[in-house]
Amino acid sequence: MRHDHSNRERDLTESIGSLLTQDHDEIDALFQRAVDGDSAARTAFEERLRLHMRIEEEILFPALSDTPLAVPARVMVKEHDLLRDLLDKDDLEALPSCLGSHNVKEENVIYPACEGPTFAPQLAKVREALAARR
Ligand SMILES: [Fe+2]
Ligand SMILES: [Fe+2]
Repeated sequence: MRHDHSNRERDLTESIGSLLTQDHDEIDALFQRAVDGDSAARTAFEERLRLHMRIEEEILFPALSDTPLAVPARVMVKEHDLLRDLLDKDDLEALPSCLGSHNVKEENVIYPACEGPTFAPQLAKVREALAARR
């Protein structure tokens, strides 16, 4: 949703899945610039990835705790812990495959379960948290 959509259009297309998938894409682009030697992008990549994982853990996954997605959400947190380990160790070689497979699972399994009126409060909080970044 980084394009200049009107509010009306945004209301029709915006979802937790669209916002967080867009964030995956932006974080992937920062990673690519980081491995190309852009040190500012390296810093931004880490900040944005840590924030993205925090948003999922604090806003999204708790809302799945009483659903069939509770166990997959716990697996996602374990993968976040692994990703944070790789960031701590500055291991940019192992990172892309872990992050790639993690994001695919979220985009195909987790985010599609977070649609509809039940998740309106989470959508508002995700939108607010993403708007505060940078
Ligand atoms: Fe995640
Ligand atoms: Fe994610």
